[in-house]
Amino acid sequence: MSHLVAPSLLSANFLNLGEDIEMLNRSEADWIHLDIMDGVFVPNISFGFPVIEKIALKARKPLDVHLMIIDPDRYIDRFRENKAEIITVHSETCPHLHRTIDFIKKSGAKAGVALNPHSPVALLTNIIRDLDLVLLMSVNPGFGGQKFIGETYEKILELEELIARKNTKTLVEVDGGVDLTNASRLIENGANVLVTGNAVFTSPSPIETIHRLKNLQ
Ligand code: DX5
Ligand code: ZN
Repeated sequence: MSHLVAPSLLSANFLNLGEDIEMLNRSEADWIHLDIMDGVFVPNISFGFPVIEKIALKARKPLDVHLMIIDPDRYIDRFRENKAEIITVHSETCPHLHRTIDFIKKSGAKAGVALNPHSPVALLTNIIRDLDLVLLMSVNPGFGGQKFIGETYEKILELEELIARKNTKTLVEVDGGVDLTNASRLIENGANVLVTGNAVFTSPSPIETIHRLKNLQ
């Protein structure tokens, strides 16, 4: 499978969100990544349902929802009502992760778990078979435009090893500081989905940057 590109709307122009979503619809982006932050789990608040409902009306690509919120179970159904196709929760926010994943899958969405930079891959040993996706944070969650953490390269390899050992088809998504300088190595190590915020939206031609990210070997 060739890798997928999932631009994050966190770096979009919120005064012209409709235009940015149209641009993503026209682009080679595979998914649209939505970063939902509650100001509790992470030190920032992004956007909530009034905005998400409008995004869902306009987006023509699958919505890849990254929940940086405590007690995510409360909102799974509402995200599904707003066309979320992939729902990812943080391991660090879920004391009963197995139950939460089950809940997401029963809602009909694909289920993902995100790991903060310091959280070891081994946390997922006994749940990896149930996961459609693992999101490796390559920055500390909360903000776009941060510097990529180099340790992530090795972490992808460790995760690939676990996926192979357990014989699952779990996708590996990398999120944070991804750009044209590190994307090839991430793909080489086994990343299947690249999330990119700043690298896409601050570039002179976001469509061209998505094209280049998509066509890396
Ligand atoms: C950070 C978010 C990321 C972020 C990516 O908490 O999860 O999705 O927006 O943005 P860049 O690519 O700018 O790091
Ligand atoms: Zn994200």
